[in-house]
Amino acid sequence: MTKKILVLPGDGIGQEIVAEAVKVLDALKTDGLDVELDEALVGGTAYDEHGTPLPAETLDLAREADAILLGAVGGYKWESLEIAVRPEKGLLGLRSELELFANLRPAILYPQLADASTLKPEVVSGLDIMIVRELTGGIYFGQPRGIRTREDGQREGYNTLVYSESEIERIARVAFDIARKRNHKVCSVDKANVLECTELWREVTTTVGKEYDDVALSHMYVDNAAMQLVREPRQFDVMVTTNMFGDILSDAAAMLTGSIGMLPSASLDAHGKGMYEPIHGSAPDIAGQNVANPLATILSVAMMLRYSLDEPDMADRIEQAVNTVLDQGLRTADIFQEGTQKVGTSEMGDAVLKAL
Ligand code: NAD
Ligand code: IPM
Ligand code: MN
Repeated sequence: MTKKILVLPGDGIGQEIVAEAVKVLDALKTDGLDVELDEALVGGTAYDEHGTPLPAETLDLAREADAILLGAVGGYKWESLEIAVRPEKGLLGLRSELELFANLRPAILYPQLADASTLKPEVVSGLDIMIVRELTGGIYFGQPRGIRTREDGQREGYNTLVYSESEIERIARVAFDIARKRNHKVCSVDKANVLECTELWREVTTTVGKEYDDVALSHMYVDNAAMQLVREPRQFDVMVTTNMFGDILSDAAAMLTGSIGMLPSASLDAHGKGMYEPIHGSAPDIAGQNVANPLATILSVAMMLRYSLDEPDMADRIEQAVNTVLDQGLRTADIFQEGTQKVGTSEMGDAVLKAL
């Protein structure tokens, strides 16, 4: 049966990079990929049109879709809006309404980019980490939250870090199941020395870990994990962590691979439905200039083919095509180095198409 893909370009470079990823999907369609694409508004562009970053129509289409491809949301233009209608709320609303609790962020170094990383090649070569970020709970969604005025007249801002046992258990299982198909190691990252919420996180991941005696579980405090990621990143196989820690650690891990423009992601529910997006944002500083790296978004399509569309061979083809263009020495500005050839967003997309 024809699968439905909802395309949500969003804001800033989201428009440019998604256009390249759609070219790839269209090419695969002519090769027999049985999908139908629809497009809708999310983020700031949706706010401008409908006064909300997540219009009901977009959410309905997202619910009906088998998979969603998202660019990025946000930008200077909407920074002074109240949090409730900020572009970012559109993305957070999709994640939570669709219960996309498992965010997979693979940080893989393409060998051709070993010198593009700010870390020494001998530290990053062969890097292959899977960060499993909890995506629908934690401090991003905990109640109560807000800004209130105290008795002494001062205002205070507050958020709540909260995880239930079942929320921890289900994300832990995702991490252990993935580790079983990889190098059988899970490092759970928390702040259990300070925060009760993550004390429970450590307890529950340990309990779940007992069911996976073929996977070695370790625990690490998040401050140390940040340091270890830049000291000796290859010690990690699968990392599992909370919503906010995962947000921060994955941006750091991205740079190990040469650029944040290289990291794709999959946000999955319990039934294989997923939203696929690069981990970076709308990069308003470079938007509209045809310089953004589209590879993270194109690689997100590969994740979509693998996790939601059951087309692992086509996913392999995309990853191989990315490999080929890197072999050819083509580089967007973020991964450019002496001796390589600088190309724009659309030229990079075209090169991937050709290599497909
Ligand atoms: P960002 O990821 O947009 O940009 C950080 C830096 O990385 C910028 O210098 C940018 O030019 C560069 N960069 C990002 N993606 C790139 C790409 N594909 N190619 C080349 N360079 C790239 O983060 P930010 O500047 O902190 O945030 C900008 C806006 O994006 C904010 O509104 C933020 O809320 C939003 N944001 C959205 C998402 C998302 O939609 N998933 C993720 C992160 C940030
Ligand atoms: C990401 C982004 C989002 C997050 C923002 C835009 C809500 O930084 O996808 O990493 O914090 O999750
Ligand atoms: Mn982020």
